[in-house]
Amino acid sequence: MKTINTLGLLSLSFLFSTTIIAQNPLVIPPALSGTDFDLTIQHGSVEFTPGVTTSTMGVNGDILGPTLIFTQGETVNIAVHNEIGDTTTVHWHGMHIPAAMDGGPHTPIPPGTTWNPTFTIMDHASTMWYHPHLMHKTNTHIQMGIAGFVIIKDAEEAALNLPRTYGVDDIPVVFQTKTIDENGQIDTDMAHAGMDTLVLANGTPNAYFDAPAQMFRVRMLDASSERSYNIGLSNNAPFVVIGSDGGLLTSGTPLTRLLISPGERYEIIIDLSGLEGESVQIMNYGSAMPAGVYGNATTLGPSSPDPIPFYYDNPLNGSDFALLTLNVGPQTANPVLSTPQTLAATTDLEYSSVDFTRQILMSPVGGMMGPQGLTGPFQFNGNLFDMNVVNYEVDLNNTEVWTITNQSAISHPFHIHDVQFNIQEYDGGLPPPHMQGWKDVVLIPPFMGTVKFITKFEDFADPDVPYMYHCHILVHEEGGMMGQFVVIDREGVGSVIENETFSLYPNPASENIRIELNNVGSNEITIRDISGRTVMVLSINGASTSLDVSSFIPGVYFVSIGNTTARFIKD
Ligand code: C2O
Ligand code: CU
Ligand code: CU
Repeated sequence: MKTINTLGLLSLSFLFSTTIIAQNPLVIPPALSGTDFDLTIQHGSVEFTPGVTTSTMGVNGDILGPTLIFTQGETVNIAVHNEIGDTTTVHWHGMHIPAAMDGGPHTPIPPGTTWNPTFTIMDHASTMWYHPHLMHKTNTHIQMGIAGFVIIKDAEEAALNLPRTYGVDDIPVVFQTKTIDENGQIDTDMAHAGMDTLVLANGTPNAYFDAPAQMFRVRMLDASSERSYNIGLSNNAPFVVIGSDGGLLTSGTPLTRLLISPGERYEIIIDLSGLEGESVQIMNYGSAMPAGVYGNATTLGPSSPDPIPFYYDNPLNGSDFALLTLNVGPQTANPVLSTPQTLAATTDLEYSSVDFTRQILMSPVGGMMGPQGLTGPFQFNGNLFDMNVVNYEVDLNNTEVWTITNQSAISHPFHIHDVQFNIQEYDGGLPPPHMQGWKDVVLIPPFMGTVKFITKFEDFADPDVPYMYHCHILVHEEGGMMGQFVVIDREGVGSVIENETFSLYPNPASENIRIELNNVGSNEITIRDISGRTVMVLSINGASTSLDVSSFIPGVYFVSIGNTTARFIKD
């Protein structure tokens, strides 16, 4: 095995032996706006340490990518050129868009090709992000540097007196850690993920930003493979949370500590008024990180379950360290000096009744206190991810409640594509105020912690391209902690299926289906369910037949005659 070391550790001993000296200006990603976007995924290199060239990947640059500014109601056209010589995908995390545009593992971009997604912006003003999502390459490609922000604008947000001058009083900041090998290169081997000692803000180590002495908005994203951050300010002043994953809260929530886990975004306002000439650090207070969260001091003892490899060697775990230093300078011309009390009009779904409930149990192979209780592989309902199995068919317009229970020793950030949800219950109680808005990632506490959320699957029925749900700890996701669902419009399916071999009606059917053959003769009819299990086989000798399907479980079925297969729905 490769020895892990040094660059990360060197910068750390530096970091711990002195007060933190922030020496590098924070890189603010360039902002692109309009309706047409041109993105090239490419190789690059950076010097995290002066004199050491580290190979990276980025979008239109060496590392990370431009911030895409989208406006609600507009339709965007994006060209994504893949120049990395390896297949990848680009997923628009958090966005409500058609499954075929979502950029999940079923939408690969082969090397040397261009993918042209187009979609209408339907989400609220919010901070979203984009990143690769190819099975077995997600962690590698994100670790190498492919990721960027999406900022969505809408009229409701525009009417509020909030800081929104990009790169001045409104900045996006992505927190990430990386494992660096002895040659100063990014180590993407997931077996070494526990040695993630290099801390970056927008790809910058030891970053500082010159911020004005006024209300200052930070759009935070945790795009680390595993690590959560317990955010606080070095002066311990409260900051105001104004938005979560899917948009603004109904009112600002003052906090002094805020836990952010992989995939999550929070928008905060820091009041820097009167602090000109001083520095305030955005810190990770790892010493106060809750138990079971990756980044705390003790995530269980080194006996059973087995510790995460390198966890106790990694000086970041349980430590307090700076993520970004704000050097406070003069005010801008028209500073925002207060935060509005009321933000979004509502963050609740309109639902009258629940159509369906689903239960997801997260568990490691071998049980909660077995050796793999912290390390996995972890499963959903006892199954590892299989690209060929669609786990759920969700009816279009369903309002659903999903209950996620974590039967493992480590917290998992659960993420779902396509929708934003409202958390109804967090570990037996109401979620704290900053978690009561729109969310697409929620950290599920360990040892039978349970979270219940409600969401609605409007729009974008597509029986062929699934959306994903998964743990956003990339090491867990790649290990199989993922599932997929399709949204199906049962009413929208035409009433008669016609093909070269037969016609079938009605579709959907509740009692009987009638099959009429184009070529009369002896034929065998096979009916399979969504998982490929044969549920009926019969031979007919004639032109047509009527089959009783009233005992079939509602869902999708496939009828095959000869080489022709058609899909029908049992209501
Ligand atoms: Cu950040 Cu499946 O997504
Ligand atoms: Cu996503
Ligand atoms: Cu996980």
